[in-house]
Amino acid sequence: MNPPTNKPSAADPAPAATSSPAAFDARRFKAMERAGFNRIAARYAEGAHLRAELATALLDAAALAPGQRVLDLASGPGLLARDAALRIAPGGTVLATDIAEGMLAEGARRCGEHASTPCFAAADAEQLCLADASVDRVLAGLALFVFPHPERALAEMHRVLVPGGLVALSVWGTRETVPLIHRAQDCIARLLPAPKVARPSVFRFGEAEVLQASLAAAGFVDIDIRPCAFSCHFADADDYWQAFLDLAGGAAEALGRLPEASQQALRSAVVDELAGHVCGDARGGFILPAHTLVATARRPG
Ligand SMILES: C[S@@+](CC[C@H](N)C(=O)[O-])C[C@H]1O[C@@H](n2cnc3c(N)ncnc32)[C@H](O)[C@@H]1O
Repeated sequence: MNPPTNKPSAADPAPAATSSPAAFDARRFKAMERAGFNRIAARYAEGAHLRAELATALLDAAALAPGQRVLDLASGPGLLARDAALRIAPGGTVLATDIAEGMLAEGARRCGEHASTPCFAAADAEQLCLADASVDRVLAGLALFVFPHPERALAEMHRVLVPGGLVALSVWGTRETVPLIHRAQDCIARLLPAPKVARPSVFRFGEAEVLQASLAAAGFVDIDIRPCAFSCHFADADDYWQAFLDLAGGAAEALGRLPEASQQALRSAVVDELAGHVCGDARGGFILPAHTLVATARRPG
């Protein structure tokens, strides 16, 4: 599960074909993700309604109940945490952690000071500052694939769960089943030179067998993996491109550092990738599907 062996994807830099690939640097990768998700924090939260079906599927799978202690790992602005807090009241607690403090600040700002507001704290999912066996549930929405060492994050989830505790997580499906992401990546690959450094693909857990094996290797049992498909409507290609930028932290950061003309060229060109996704009804615009997997797994009791 080492990142450099993963198939390159367009938005995630891939090695240039002619020279030996530069080494993957996990610290730099995390810094890029952190900067990117800080950059897009407010817009990420604004766009979360597009993925509401997935959030509900994950929360339902987590079998939340009053009184539980819940960790929302790599929480972003804590939208799962916020809904989870309602489901575990009265008596429960929710801690939302993320590496991007801007995401947490956005979440705290949106939650206000209600009694059921989650706590927000910055933490690297690969090295949590939580005691062993201290939570009943771990939630990890669209997160496992952003960690350079996902096996470390899974080990941490296992460690902080009580025996019998449950992790509920979601990941993108395989590349071809997620036009929502890969159409933008295709445009980037078409217009920009291949990046020099290999990075992990966001689709690397898209096969249920891969996700199953990763959870089992971390010591989890009773693994259940179900598909969850949803579609997003965009008024025009510009709307789609902005939604991609508002979702992909590291890619948004890399693209945001390009000259304005290059950014504009990408924004204009992506319409060509969307030809197969024209919306046939009165709304017009485009519909982009996304397949995901929702998994639950238990720490042995
Ligand atoms: C695609 S967002 C998912 C956010 C949220 N879980 C959701 O379901 O909408 C991925 C999140 O992972 C966070 N992240 C990336 N690397 C991380 C790490 N090493 N430790 C903790 N969080 C990390 C990012 O800052 C970002 O908020």
